[in-house]
Amino acid sequence: MKILITGGAGFIGVNLAEFLLGKGEAVIILDNLSRPGSEHNLAWLKKRFSRKFDFIQADIRNFRSVSEAITDISTVYHLAAQVAVTSSVSDPQTDFQINAAGTLNILEAVRKNCPEAVVIFASTNKVYGELTHLAISEKNNRYFIPKLPEGVSEKTNLDFHSPYGCSKGAADQYVRDYSRIYGLKTVIFRQSCIYGPHQFGNEDQGWVAYLTLCALQNKEITIYGDGKQVRDILFVDDLISAFELARDRAGKISGNIYNVGGGKENVLSLLELIAWLEKELKREIKHKFDAWRPGDQRVYVSDIRKAKEGLGWKPSVSKKEGLKKLLFWLRKNL
Ligand SMILES: NC(=O)c1ccc[n+]([C@@H]2O[C@H](COP(=O)([O-])OP(=O)(O)OC[C@H]3O[C@@H](n4cnc5c(N)ncnc54)[C@H](O)[C@@H]3O)[C@@H](O)[C@H]2O)c1
Repeated sequence: MKILITGGAGFIGVNLAEFLLGKGEAVIILDNLSRPGSEHNLAWLKKRFSRKFDFIQADIRNFRSVSEAITDISTVYHLAAQVAVTSSVSDPQTDFQINAAGTLNILEAVRKNCPEAVVIFASTNKVYGELTHLAISEKNNRYFIPKLPEGVSEKTNLDFHSPYGCSKGAADQYVRDYSRIYGLKTVIFRQSCIYGPHQFGNEDQGWVAYLTLCALQNKEITIYGDGKQVRDILFVDDLISAFELARDRAGKISGNIYNVGGGKENVLSLLELIAWLEKELKREIKHKFDAWRPGDQRVYVSDIRKAKEGLGWKPSVSKKEGLKKLLFWLRKNL
């Protein structure tokens, strides 16, 4: 039986496909190639694995295509999505159709065609909203939440913010509920900021790769907010190892939700990234400031203790190591 990766030509998808194909697994990628850079990723994968996988160019909004693809499948990694908060604000209907209705298409196809399949879903920390009820402090040019030294746990109230937060949040809850109501083997990962090779970051999504790319190209960076906002960054290989552990245990952990990110050891602010790039590139990185964007959390750090305990997982690539790997890849592939 084959493994299906929706959004498999995207950043996380292509890294996952490379990992699975390297292990000799049979992989199908379903992607509509709407993300700039996804064609490049797909071409790279074809070259690397000499067409040893199937590719279906299709849209997850089309139930028939999804249903045809989800036949004799052992695992579905559902990664395809409209990924930018900004685009969701300018076109909430398309965002909803892809992220919420598209996910329901995946679940229905699994329920009808392959009810034994494992479904791993890439959710987001945006389901927790701006966390404005928590007091924020500032130290050494970065924000932090004194009340949450370990970060944000899965017990935090849901507070969908922005159309993207709403559509991914709805999908997150459907994926969880299909485990309860229909007994599907679903696992949800609420991902923080993931970064790594094959990431074509832009101003709207993928800030670590985008800032690094701008720095390499000597382009001026616009920081929305004051740059003191922080995220816990997770190198993509570590996300894939969490996916693997979940797939192996899916029968036992079905319906579970895990916050995954670099955790408190791998927190980075925008200003810190710029300072790090200046040190690495040995020159000043031009940047200016603009207004905050809707739904942009001042602080988000994942509490990863549930994933550590439940999956026996922890990040293995430090932020310093991961950033160097990303810089190396971008330099080679500019
Ligand atoms: N990268 C992160 O930091 C991060 C953080 C939280 C959650 N996520 C989630 O992880 C998943 C993967 O993210 P990514 O960073 O690899 O994004 P990406 O944009 O690189 O990959 C998404 C892929 O989905 C495809 N796609 C988009 N709409 C589609 C549609 N209607 N039908 C079929 N394919 C479609 C795109 O062409 C792209 O290849 C997404 O669901 C995203 O919401 C990512």
